[in-house]
Amino acid sequence: MCGIVGYIGKEQVAPILLEGLSRLEYRGYDSAGVAVYSEKEGGLVVKKTKGRLQVLSDVLQGGAALDGTVGIGHTRWATHGAPSDVNSHPQVSRSGRIAVVHNGIIENYVELKAFLIDKGVPFVSETDTEVVAQLVEYFYKGDILQAVYESLHLIEGAYALGILCADAPDQLIAVRKDNPMILGYGDGFNFMASDVTAVIKYTRDVVYMDNGELAILTRDGIQCYNSMMQPVEKEISRVDWEIDAAEKGGYEHFMFKEIMEQPDALRHAIFPRIRDGEVFFENFGLDEDYIRRMDKIYIVACGSSYHVGMVGKYNIERLLRRPVEVALASEFRYMDPILTDHTLVIVISQSGETLDSMAALREAKRLGATVLSIVNVVGSSIARESDVVLYTWAGPEIAVATTKAYSTQLAVLDLLALHFARVLGTIELGEYRATLDEFLLLPGKLETVLADRDQVQYLASQYFNHSSVFFIGRNLDYAMGLEGSLKLKEISYIHSEAYASGELKHGTISLIEDGTLVFALGTCGRLFEKAMSNVVEVKARGADVLAVTTESRREAMARTADAVMTIPDTCDMLLPSLGIAHLQLFAYYVALMRGCDIDKPRNLAKSVTVE
Ligand code: F6R
Repeated sequence: MCGIVGYIGKEQVAPILLEGLSRLEYRGYDSAGVAVYSEKEGGLVVKKTKGRLQVLSDVLQGGAALDGTVGIGHTRWATHGAPSDVNSHPQVSRSGRIAVVHNGIIENYVELKAFLIDKGVPFVSETDTEVVAQLVEYFYKGDILQAVYESLHLIEGAYALGILCADAPDQLIAVRKDNPMILGYGDGFNFMASDVTAVIKYTRDVVYMDNGELAILTRDGIQCYNSMMQPVEKEISRVDWEIDAAEKGGYEHFMFKEIMEQPDALRHAIFPRIRDGEVFFENFGLDEDYIRRMDKIYIVACGSSYHVGMVGKYNIERLLRRPVEVALASEFRYMDPILTDHTLVIVISQSGETLDSMAALREAKRLGATVLSIVNVVGSSIARESDVVLYTWAGPEIAVATTKAYSTQLAVLDLLALHFARVLGTIELGEYRATLDEFLLLPGKLETVLADRDQVQYLASQYFNHSSVFFIGRNLDYAMGLEGSLKLKEISYIHSEAYASGELKHGTISLIEDGTLVFALGTCGRLFEKAMSNVVEVKARGADVLAVTTESRREAMARTADAVMTIPDTCDMLLPSLGIAHLQLFAYYVALMRGCDIDKPRNLAKSVTVE
């Protein structure tokens, strides 16, 4: 949610900022802007525009229209004030000397604004960020770092800030609290950014700033300080993935590329974790004693990551005979959850920065629980604050709608369930080994599902103009339907709902009429007959039924459904990992046929760092 990039070096900065912002646009894309120090002008030049980054790039002629070698840039997902030129970042102080880019929310901005207005400071935008620029100027007596430091004492909320002062054009200031900020180290240049994707073209040496830290970037180095302004030495990490991982590589959309990358992503997530017929987690912080004492598991997450938790609940409870609760992170923190020292809280997050999930994690720790997180982005806040981290190793996910992160989160959670079951002795050795064999076959089986995409594309072409879609299923199929439904609505803007099939008759079936599109999910063998009964019920009321089932049940399903998509047979717990591919592809093709902006759906952003 909002992307920040800052550069200080010897090259012309504007094209570098635009390039960096293009890699961060997934974080927000309703407006963009840059501030550059120009020697010619003897001060800051600020350009910002409503709309996609391309609008700004056109205004700046790809960066050629701005002269300077130090600057900050921003791509916005509006919180305070509608997308407009004036509300775009950078926000500048009244004198035009101090420019600020911000990701997050200043919670006490109303009070701070009133305080500054009382002191005669005029405001031009509706943003909370302008308060920061004006406040820093209010404290500014010639030392910009000191002014920032004093301002931070008054500011409440979550923020990553990039600050440029015209009086100190040989430095940039970066600040981080509860929103991500990384520093990129180069030879004669340095970067700050919301995410490594913005700097990876220039450097792989990065530092993940910690909460409360400030940094001063010059051309020759970076000095970090803790919240007491004491210098701190930071460990430099080396990013180990290639730039191509964050590029489309010939695909029309990141989402499609990421759907197709899923088999490989699963190989990365699974293969190193199965050794000599056992689940193996490197540096795993939960010992067997802890696992045996565990009284309950809470899975806490948002959106698709929450849907992974829903699948996990069915799998873990069946395997462990231990209660599992799945909670939306935004609810968890206010629901006064019942946790003990023996409750394991599993936080699932692709970005590792989702504010609701982060807050839930802190609440869980405050209440004494142990927190294990399943995270994709290395070094992210959730990863760092958890007691134990399992990375999904899916590589950078750029499309706003998650696909490969979902699949790898699910695989890691399933492996964890299997490991717990083995320790607790709630799984027979034979079933354990057979399930692990199925894990090893999963990427290959998923490849065969993805190879069948022409059929899904054809079905999408038949149904893309429907205005409402239902996903029905029981148990694991219901949990999978939740994700299928979210995928469809977020990128194609078609209203859709996922229902536990047995619940339809308690009210919702009244919405089924001639031509209503129903996705019937019937992959679970032991519930197949029940699934069929529900298909018959909706068919009898005129629905068009597209079904997903296993190859062995294709024929039975085809007797009633209008079309059947199949997945290879596998053990129960892995069925959603295969079935979901059809639903992702369907959502993708429908959105394509409806002419939607697939990678950047309206009103959304990838990393949701506001409450
Ligand atoms: C949907 C989607 C979102 C995220 C949710 C949580 O396609 O991507 O629903 O799953 O915002 O994000 P993370 O996993 O980064 O915490």
